[in-house]
Amino acid sequence: MNIVVLNGSPKGDLSITLQYIRYAAKKYPNSSFQYFPVAQNIKKLEKNEAAFREITDAVKKADAVIWSFPLYFLLVCSQYKRFIELIFERKQEDAFIGKYAVSVSTSVHFFDHTAHNYIHGICDDLQMHYAGGYSAAMYDLMKKPERARWLAFTENFLDAVSRRITTPLVYPPIPVNSFIYQPGHPHSTVDTTGRRILIMKDGQPPTGNIDAMVQFFAGNFRENVEIVNLMDIDIKGGCLGCCKCGINNICDYQGKDGYIDFFNTKVKQADIVVFAGAIHDRYLSARWKMFFDRSFFNTHMPAFNGKQIAFLISGPLSQNDNLRQILTSYGEFQEANLAGIITDEAGENQQIDLLLSELAGSLVRLAGMGFVMPITFNGVGGRKIFRDEVYGPLRFVFQADHHYYKSHGFYDFPQKNFKVRRLNLIMTLLTKIPPFRRKFLKILKEQMVKPVKYVAENR
Ligand SMILES: Cc1cc2nc3c(=O)[nH]c(=O)nc-3n(C[C@H](O)[C@H](O)[C@H](O)COP(=O)(O)O)c2cc1C
Repeated sequence: MNIVVLNGSPKGDLSITLQYIRYAAKKYPNSSFQYFPVAQNIKKLEKNEAAFREITDAVKKADAVIWSFPLYFLLVCSQYKRFIELIFERKQEDAFIGKYAVSVSTSVHFFDHTAHNYIHGICDDLQMHYAGGYSAAMYDLMKKPERARWLAFTENFLDAVSRRITTPLVYPPIPVNSFIYQPGHPHSTVDTTGRRILIMKDGQPPTGNIDAMVQFFAGNFRENVEIVNLMDIDIKGGCLGCCKCGINNICDYQGKDGYIDFFNTKVKQADIVVFAGAIHDRYLSARWKMFFDRSFFNTHMPAFNGKQIAFLISGPLSQNDNLRQILTSYGEFQEANLAGIITDEAGENQQIDLLLSELAGSLVRLAGMGFVMPITFNGVGGRKIFRDEVYGPLRFVFQADHHYYKSHGFYDFPQKNFKVRRLNLIMTLLTKIPPFRRKFLKILKEQMVKPVKYVAENR
């Protein structure tokens, strides 16, 4: 069996994820594995179409494809995203049709599901037979039971390919929206009240209705707001995954391009940040992904604390719940308030005008109130994952995070709460006594609401 491995790590051969594939290849010597470091070589593949064709030719001849990648900002890295865009731009979908595929990642399990959903969607768009996603923790391969689990998955995959099993279509094609938004005249009535507003758009074609949306949106403010096209920022490349930033937040690109300066002087200084972009395949553009990935020099610290943020999206977001989840969760782990997501899906000029005007007003109003919505499962879960990783195995790599987490009360481990520990001990013992337990269960509901009820009635 011939298997093509599309290595989506910017670290190429030094990819941790790739070691999982190499291990499986060693254990299944009857299958041949051909490796392509597509993320590491993205600049070459963009410039040199023959090099790109070499990969799609190999895919054409293969029985199956392994999408192997690290998690980068809730998805794959920008270089891998760009590779996927090239498949469609260069009309190479045919090479992938009917091939079996799996996605394999390593990560700390922070939004690994959205990355796998994305690749699954791409496989469905390419009419491949998606046979499953395997999300390993970075160092799972070190553990015997995890190696067995991984090999069982591989065996199941090889069996699926050899039997040419039927696979379900989970992400049906997304229809193209040809609506052209023609905005009205904005009224320039929203007073920014001195708040700095930054609107960023990516400028990577096709931009859909983004330029018109940005122009109308910006026109709602009485004062000038800053609009930046990410194509005008000197960004030399995507995040390299070197993690040098972990010690003191100094990125390897520092002084070599304009990204960090832009982020520190424009993005961090703004009170309101608006991200604008068109949907490209099942995410935003690779340029936007590069922007998000490169912000990793802030490592696992929130970089938008207390800011108002919003997204202007051109494209069928309502049919892409995975992307909506990514956008809404972004605000949560950045400790920002997501004031809204406006798309051009209404398909009616006036309606989009109204939505954009309303957003402009509420961004300033919410900024004035200093309002930040409480976080949901996405934010709470993410914070706990980072807390445990930075406190534990990642601490010596991400020392800057550790200092920040310590000084900002992120280490809220329950075992440090001695009052609760004492209460738990006493109550656990007491509830072992049958009459006490009966009484306890009888008054439980009443006791649970008691402190909250007291505040609601007396404060
Ligand atoms: C820029 C950047 C972004 C990352 N984003 C995530 C993430 O969103 N979720 C996660 O669980 N891990 C994230 N990670 C951790 C990597 O996915 C993890 O270290 C992975 O094992 C690296 O695999 P590789 O060696 O194959 O590149 C990120 C790492 C980097 C450098």
